[in-house]
Amino acid sequence: MEHLIIFDTTMRDGEQSPGASMTKEEKVRIGKQLEKMRVDVIEAGFAAASQGDFEAIHAVATAVKDSTVCSLARAQVGDIQKAGDAIKPAARGRIHTFIATSPIHMQHKLRMSPDQVLQGAIDAVKFARTFTDDVEFSAEDAVRSEMDFLCRVFEAVIKAGAKTVNVPDTVGYSIPELWAERFKTLLERVPNADQVVWSTHCHNDLGMAVANSLAAVKAGARQVECTINGLGERAGNAALEEIVMAIQTRKDYFGVETQIDATQIVPASKLVSTITGYPVQPNKAVVGANAFAHESGIHQDGVLKHRETYEIMRAQDVGWHNNRLTLGKLSGRSAFRERLKELGIELESEVALNSAFKKFKELADKKTDIFDEDLHAIVSDEAVTPEIEQYHLVSLTAHVETGESPYAKLTITDQGREVKCEANGAGPVDATFKALESVLKSESELLLYSVNNVTEGTDSQGEVTVRLTKGGRVVNGIGADTDIVIASAKAYLNALNKMTTTFARVNPQVG
Ligand code: KIV
Ligand code: ZN
Repeated sequence: MEHLIIFDTTMRDGEQSPGASMTKEEKVRIGKQLEKMRVDVIEAGFAAASQGDFEAIHAVATAVKDSTVCSLARAQVGDIQKAGDAIKPAARGRIHTFIATSPIHMQHKLRMSPDQVLQGAIDAVKFARTFTDDVEFSAEDAVRSEMDFLCRVFEAVIKAGAKTVNVPDTVGYSIPELWAERFKTLLERVPNADQVVWSTHCHNDLGMAVANSLAAVKAGARQVECTINGLGERAGNAALEEIVMAIQTRKDYFGVETQIDATQIVPASKLVSTITGYPVQPNKAVVGANAFAHESGIHQDGVLKHRETYEIMRAQDVGWHNNRLTLGKLSGRSAFRERLKELGIELESEVALNSAFKKFKELADKKTDIFDEDLHAIVSDEAVTPEIEQYHLVSLTAHVETGESPYAKLTITDQGREVKCEANGAGPVDATFKALESVLKSESELLLYSVNNVTEGTDSQGEVTVRLTKGGRVVNGIGADTDIVIASAKAYLNALNKMTTTFARVNPQVG
């Protein structure tokens, strides 16, 4: 069977989701998990976006050895230079350069003529080849590009040295039959088409990103660009887990195979959800909490008699219920540090390590079995180095009693200075947020509040996501604790801490 390359862009296109920006440490953790899952290519970011993203790509390129590490770059000298420098430490590094080829983008966004765009694409690929042999070229908005021009551009960039050519449905406009048709035409009409890998990159605006990607595979694409949980710009990208499981479950139809270790899918999904604060909907295919739950009596009866009556995949094959007991109450500091290292987690300072270890010990006192997910949740809690955090939770008391108004009282530090606050609310979480706002007066608007179990059981840590917006900026805060009111307070403060940082993300496709 032919190999299908899985190109993960969770840390680049996925990061373009509002509030989903990741720190360097978070990118390394996701990078290690993707490597463990045997993803072929990891797009770790857009090096020219910011110094922070440059450093994050560099760190992923240093930490990951088995997957190719890639940086995005517009077809501009400065971008390509930065991408080349960022991927330098990689065992295998790729530069992914792109320029828009549709009339609407060329005329209104780039203000360039088709000939200028063609020349820009050729120059970009040639310059990128001075850094690495592994150069990918994307024709942004290929879905709305004229076929003759697209063929000219692809022929020229292949001559210039591109090894992969990517055909993006940037705006999620295509439908499967038309997308397959587009690939067939390109493969027939581009004279040197057989010298490269053809790739598909689909957005989900009409809910067809996965269907379109699979149609492209059927028509000859041998790389799919996708993201964990379908995260991505607007309605997201094609979901990696759905692509991989469709290819695996229906290999009779597709006739290609991936090298993905599917048992790592659920851990990857949980990690990305934890880090970005984007919860997974319960009915989401493959990674949703209900994806393998049979509610109806007829289904349950059928599954008990013979699993395949209603199940086409097994939950454990995609990593459900494969929780590995990691550490216990008696585990020491070095075992803790070692396990973090195996998970790709290097805490920046001894202070952060000590504080995470303290939290681990506290958790082990309440909950005997500690799993990898728990460690990720503890470390996400530590995401901002404690010594540079503006707000920090010191203590919380919440009171609920039937017939009484719920009440919360908190002590926090604001740049090291102790502040006390209290309030009543509709429930203990509401009271907590009201108490915090009464003193912090952030005036931000709450867009989302959600709670998820980190592992199973009532002793599990609850992981809370709080999405806040203010002045057009959106941030996601996360907090974890076996007590969800405490987790909520931490998540709220985490979001406010992110609001106070000056980190700004640049979208490569704008401007
Ligand atoms: O959607 C898109 O066109 C992109 C390109 C940069 C590949 O993300
Ligand atoms: Zn995209």
